[in-house]
Amino acid sequence: MLIAGEKRTTIWPDAEGQGVLILDQTRLPHRIETVLLRNLEDAARAIRDMLVRGAPLIGVTAAYGVALAMRTDASDAGLAQSRETLRKTRPTAVNLAWALEQIGKFLGQMPEELRRDAAFAFAKHLAEKDIACNSAIGDNGLALFRDLAQKRAGKPLRILTHCNAGWLATVDWGTATAPIYKAQAAGIPLHVFVDETRPRNQGAFLTAFELGQQGVSHDLIVDNAGGHLMQHGEVDVVIVGADRIAANGDACNKIGTYLKALAAKDCSVPFYVAAPVSTFDFALESGSLIPIEERAQDEVTHISGEADNGEVLKVRVAPKTTTARNPGFDVTPARLVSGIITEQGVFAAETQALAALRP
Ligand code: MRU
Repeated sequence: MLIAGEKRTTIWPDAEGQGVLILDQTRLPHRIETVLLRNLEDAARAIRDMLVRGAPLIGVTAAYGVALAMRTDASDAGLAQSRETLRKTRPTAVNLAWALEQIGKFLGQMPEELRRDAAFAFAKHLAEKDIACNSAIGDNGLALFRDLAQKRAGKPLRILTHCNAGWLATVDWGTATAPIYKAQAAGIPLHVFVDETRPRNQGAFLTAFELGQQGVSHDLIVDNAGGHLMQHGEVDVVIVGADRIAANGDACNKIGTYLKALAAKDCSVPFYVAAPVSTFDFALESGSLIPIEERAQDEVTHISGEADNGEVLKVRVAPKTTTARNPGFDVTPARLVSGIITEQGVFAAETQALAALRP
């Protein structure tokens, strides 16, 4: 996708072989900065501190993290320890565990002396696969959007999205945004309502930024506005990403997604989840078993941003003595999901239909 008209991805190997480069997402949209990950610790920190975030991108970064670790210790112990360090960085998005499993299996069956180069090649392969999956999700979602757009008879299709399941959350295209970008390229008029997504404001900071860079018409809305807009017939479809989807179609995504799904159901607005097959956790029968990340209180008691003079600010919005709860994700029950858009097609959110996707 584009930043200032230049084609970019979120992660790429450094041309001089020093490591792996990422876009620092804690600085967006105000600063476009790249950071070099030189070793395992850098990769783990980038995931933990959310310089990279979004389920698919966390997975790819973890694979590169293992590759960086193989440069200093390619033994079985080194491989196991690097996977464990990375696995512990964030608990909810299953793409992390999936990517670590994939690269672990691949490297585990080869001699140590081959692991260093093979690990980088494998991480690159996962990154390329992510781009291909998201592009296919885009094509499958586009077919749905075409049908919905027909009912609008030339007026813009109005889409609501939560958090950032955009290209910044993946290597390229995004999951929820891929059908949006494909629809725009196909000439379908559209308009996106972007939930700001407190507490970390991924909608305001990231989704609004990337849609703007791609020239997609959009409005930023506060998290509580979605229900009102749906009630007043101003939203034609909701599309979100996912961090983990259980075998029965319960979909875990950024906190607040569930409330959007409830409002969508009440207002008969279709609610779609867009995710690659690597986001499914078939070991979990239902979403109640998904571990939910609990994040720091100061993300709620404070708001961060940048002043017009460029000063980075973190401002307290709650009284000094107020404590906070900060669950990072919630689970939308399958009964509220109209369909799950994957690279293999669109599936009903129920155990039998999704069984076709089991590995
Ligand atoms: O805490 P984050 O920013 O990593 O959460 C991201 C989300 O919840 C995304 O919607 C999800 O990972 C899907 S990304 C294609």
